[in-house]
Amino acid sequence: MTRQILVTSALPYANGAIHLGHLVEYIQTDIWVRFQKMRGHACWYVCADDTHGTPIMLRADKEGIAPEELIARVHKEHLRDFAGFHVAFDNYHSTHSEETRFFANDIYGKLKAAGLIEVRAIEQFYDPVKEMFLPDRYIKGECPKCGTPDQYGDSCESCGAAYAPTDLKNPVSAVSGAVPVRKSSDHYFFKLSDPRCQEFLRRATREVCKSQPEAVNKLQEWLGVDANEPGENKLTDWDISRDAPYFGFEIPGAPGKYFYVWLDAPIGYFGSLKHLAARTPAIDVAAFTDQAAAAQAGTELYHFVGKDILYFHALFWPAELEHAGYRIPTAVFAHGFLTVDGQKMSKSRGTFITAESYLRQGLNPEWLRYYYAAKLNATMEDIDLNLDDFIARVNSDLVGKFVNIASRCAGFIHKRFDGALAPSSSTLLSDAQAAGETIAAHYEAREYGKAVREIMALADRANQFVNDNAPWELAKQAGKDADLHRVCSEALNLFRLLTIYLKPVLPQLAADVEAFLKVAPLAWPDTAALLPGGHRIGEYKHLTTRVERKQIDALVEANRESLAPAAPPQPHSQQRHAEHQQHAEEKAAVSHISIDDFSKVDLRVARIASASHVEGAEKLIKLTLDLGTETRTVFAGIKSAYDPATLAGRLTVMVANLAPRKMKFGLSEGMVLAASGEGPGIFLLSPDSGAQPGMRVK
Ligand code: MSP
Ligand code: ZN
Repeated sequence: MTRQILVTSALPYANGAIHLGHLVEYIQTDIWVRFQKMRGHACWYVCADDTHGTPIMLRADKEGIAPEELIARVHKEHLRDFAGFHVAFDNYHSTHSEETRFFANDIYGKLKAAGLIEVRAIEQFYDPVKEMFLPDRYIKGECPKCGTPDQYGDSCESCGAAYAPTDLKNPVSAVSGAVPVRKSSDHYFFKLSDPRCQEFLRRATREVCKSQPEAVNKLQEWLGVDANEPGENKLTDWDISRDAPYFGFEIPGAPGKYFYVWLDAPIGYFGSLKHLAARTPAIDVAAFTDQAAAAQAGTELYHFVGKDILYFHALFWPAELEHAGYRIPTAVFAHGFLTVDGQKMSKSRGTFITAESYLRQGLNPEWLRYYYAAKLNATMEDIDLNLDDFIARVNSDLVGKFVNIASRCAGFIHKRFDGALAPSSSTLLSDAQAAGETIAAHYEAREYGKAVREIMALADRANQFVNDNAPWELAKQAGKDADLHRVCSEALNLFRLLTIYLKPVLPQLAADVEAFLKVAPLAWPDTAALLPGGHRIGEYKHLTTRVERKQIDALVEANRESLAPAAPPQPHSQQRHAEHQQHAEEKAAVSHISIDDFSKVDLRVARIASASHVEGAEKLIKLTLDLGTETRTVFAGIKSAYDPATLAGRLTVMVANLAPRKMKFGLSEGMVLAASGEGPGIFLLSPDSGAQPGMRVK
């Protein structure tokens, strides 16, 4: 039976670069979609940029451009990055589109008609200078509990208290620095507290998240344990409007009121589908969106999301859809977060790695796809990119196991048998064919790690077969031509089967193999047959290279930001969900730092006591810095611009309280400041004459 499947990944915000954390999701989804397509199903993969909201408006403002210009630029960057990692959307649209507006208005209108929209006045902080209401994350002040200054509007980093922004003492606007005033205005609410919503969600969440018991538990916790206990219905009404100025869609019949970004964001999935359908006659939009039509057609809808946004996708979104007469998702699949070497991605450690930088360093995107696949499963557990393990795995599995099979056998077929294969049949081959259904079941269940293990076990057997038969020995012996021919043909047939199994993960490599084997694009049913005797293959060209340690070091170095701009902390996930009004719109960075933030950096005048080359380092000079009361060793990446001999004796400025960093060449105990721009050149800072080593720079 051909299934009709619509698949989405979360829509990335249109004000930030795609990084390796995002790619966990997009690669996970892309593998699943490619697998479904290889199985012969009608599967559509849509996504879009999430373009609305305060952070994007303020960011454009700061750059002095219109939000439309900002989102157009980021759209191009996102498309470039996704294409670079072979993430093959059938459509990548924007929430700032007529299609999305159409569905937003329609869904809103239907919820209103169902009596699920209510208008209430609420009082919020308002920035009298910027003339706008302030989202919680844009208000700072003293914690009402412990008095710690400089806390954000929803929770205290110091004592952990959660509170409303209006509870903060001495609040200031993080946008303009002005003292905010309280101001009342009308807001539109989606009545999630309505018994219809509560009852529906108690049932629906079990269904929608049934493949992930841990997600069901979380959701039930959010809903409250017992529907019949008074006070146990925990969902409160959801504030879906924001006042002008706001970059978004104006609410029909409510001048000056806009849909909150999280209202139209998931609707953007349908907007993207509609946009795709306009050029794809095979797609009947209603069959994927309308409740009755979808039930009739049996279409499926899957959302891949990070665990941080499960709340929106498994609670708000299905409740909206259900009560507006739309279809609800067949399933929401939540994944965990990426860590690098066991820690949160970090700009100062260089592990906040952008997709662009990975590609720019010339690293193969399929290495990362393979590594993620090997690590992914169907749970919400975090996944770790361990850089040593990454190198070891890619080299041992992709190069050492998979490609090795072809590289050891193809040449003989080409040179000795005019490129033509001998007929193949063996238990090993039929075992490898039979394994296809197990592997398929793992892909279907998003257990990619299990699929990869299964495939690599087959690769091990194939390599063992090649080792046991040693074609390179047969080639030297007289009268062994038939054996040589048989062994190499069988190995290449195994290689072809493995290629089919790995194709959802390694689409480019698979395409190269198809060209080399001279076969049409491989799909899953092709496992049923083998390449027949007489089939002519092409000349073998090397299919992938090994990852080198120095490539990874360079990648981390390129992403290291020594003075990372201070971003507001992410709300802790429980807090984030405790009050559902505070949302990911506030995830973006505020553009200012306070004087307190700045004074955390201990800048000192330092005298370069000595400077020397570092054996084996391309960019580094080793500096011994005199701080008056102590000396420090610092490795500085300034070799391209300075001769160590000219540095000794001069004064410069260093960051004295940077955490020491263990480098290949020794411990670096700080950082010297230097300027650089787009062009060549690095320029060390120096203080005016009279400054003494150890003086504080502030
Ligand atoms: N714009 C919202 C989603 C709206 S969907 C209707 C958003 N955008 S995001 O850019 O912050 O994140 C996009 C997706 O990437 C989310 O599913 C998020 O969980 C995922 N990830 C972002 N950082 C991640 C990691 N470090 N690790 C794994 N996934 C991560 O949220
Ligand atoms: Zn506190």
